[in-house]
Amino acid sequence: MKIAVVLGTRPEIIKMAPVIDEIKSNNSEVILIHTGQHYDINMSKQFFIDLNLPVPNYNIGIGSYTAIKQVSVIVSELEEILQKENPDIVLVQGDTNAVLAGALASNKLKIPVGHVEAGLRSFDKDMPEEINRLIADNCSLLYFVPTKETAINLLNEGVNHNQIFVTGNTIVDACMRHKDIALAKSDISDLVKFDEYITLTMHRAENVDDPERLKNIVNSLINLPYNIVFPIHPHTKKSLINLGLYESLKNKENIQITKPLGYLDFLALLSKSKLLLTDSGGVQEEAITLNIPCVTLRYNTERPETITNGGNILAGADSEEISNNIKNILDKAEVYQKMANAPNPYGDGKSSKKIYNIIKESYDKNELQIKKAKEIMDFKGYHLYNITEDITVKQYETKNKYSIIQQVFNEGNPENIEENLNLKNKIIIVKEFEKT
Ligand code: UD1
Ligand code: UDP
Repeated sequence: MKIAVVLGTRPEIIKMAPVIDEIKSNNSEVILIHTGQHYDINMSKQFFIDLNLPVPNYNIGIGSYTAIKQVSVIVSELEEILQKENPDIVLVQGDTNAVLAGALASNKLKIPVGHVEAGLRSFDKDMPEEINRLIADNCSLLYFVPTKETAINLLNEGVNHNQIFVTGNTIVDACMRHKDIALAKSDISDLVKFDEYITLTMHRAENVDDPERLKNIVNSLINLPYNIVFPIHPHTKKSLINLGLYESLKNKENIQITKPLGYLDFLALLSKSKLLLTDSGGVQEEAITLNIPCVTLRYNTERPETITNGGNILAGADSEEISNNIKNILDKAEVYQKMANAPNPYGDGKSSKKIYNIIKESYDKNELQIKKAKEIMDFKGYHLYNITEDITVKQYETKNKYSIIQQVFNEGNPENIEENLNLKNKIIIVKEFEKT
């Protein structure tokens, strides 16, 4: 089995590393394609070193073009690479331009796409990432989703439940595999000048490309009475310099700005911090994995489980909200403990194994293919039923041969659809087909 992996940015390298390990240790072939969207050593190569990854087979070297040019050049370069390599499946991860381009190119070439971290939704179409996720999900055959709640997003959009797999998030695999090594090997404590500190990361376009919001956040940061360590993303550094805001942060005694850190250094930094302040997606997930309370510099999150589980609070870009929330967490021991002990919704660190096994099983059954028109039955419509008998999803679909259950509601709440779920006393919406 030959699996191509398309990646382009720091979080994709980190989150795909355990999957790449799994492919290699099962002796399947992996073709690694780096789009080159992140290209600085400390945004890309350092992670290949820290995570023991093979050198990519291809590097498209896209660099910092506009999003339109990035996507169009990657799609066109991938056409040649994928035609030459002819993989059984292409894996993409998350919501970057690499994901959009990878999913589009594979789809046009009729190569099945597996989307790792599929189904996340912020419902904010102003975010480039939301559009990338939506389009990539529309091009996918296999959906590897981190939680049941995420699976429900896809069911609501009409994806068949038998293509959705709740695997957890591979960030937990990466975190668990590397935390002890990070704490043993990293000399981050020598670099950090404080004993107690908040870790800050920020790079989201809606914050750093919006002068008003960036000014608000900076204004809040320079007035916070806490020590802050801020490994700065190059995008953010450029925006701060352009707006003349960089020096005001750099000159503060209690704010330490560092270059972007390698993975081991960052894990060690975050593990030892009191609190996380961030607009990153991946770092919100790491915080709840490492039991660090998180305040998110956004008005919405596609990781709502971190909030409902109690480990994360949204503060937006509002000075007062940011400082009041931090103060409330750090000054009240019971609030702090509750947030730090929030259960991790992202799994047990075995996501990459699950993902590989699902792909392999699908390949072995000859199901790693996009269905041809003649294999698809004629769609009759959606129907709603109130189920009174004792019957599981699998039994219902075996009995009603031309039906696929699309949604299940239990006392008004949607549920994830699993084969062994008992449908008694539940309302279901079914996609019905007929044989022509
Ligand atoms: C990208 C992703 C974002 C993800 C983030 C992870 C998209 C639309 N955005 O945002 O979803 O959360 O990566 O970090 O795909 N730059 C450098 N060196 C680098 C890379 C970037 O200096 O190695 C600077 C350039 O000035 C560039 C800017 O950062 O113009 C933005 O880079 P880009 O890759 O477009 O977006 P990110 O903000 O990194
Ligand atoms: N990260 C890192 N060094 C840093 C900042 C972040 O290694 O200086 C890692 C972090 O551990 C996480 C990932 O980068 O796994 C998150 O990437 P980022 O915040 O850039 O993107 P997002 O997750 O928001 O897409």
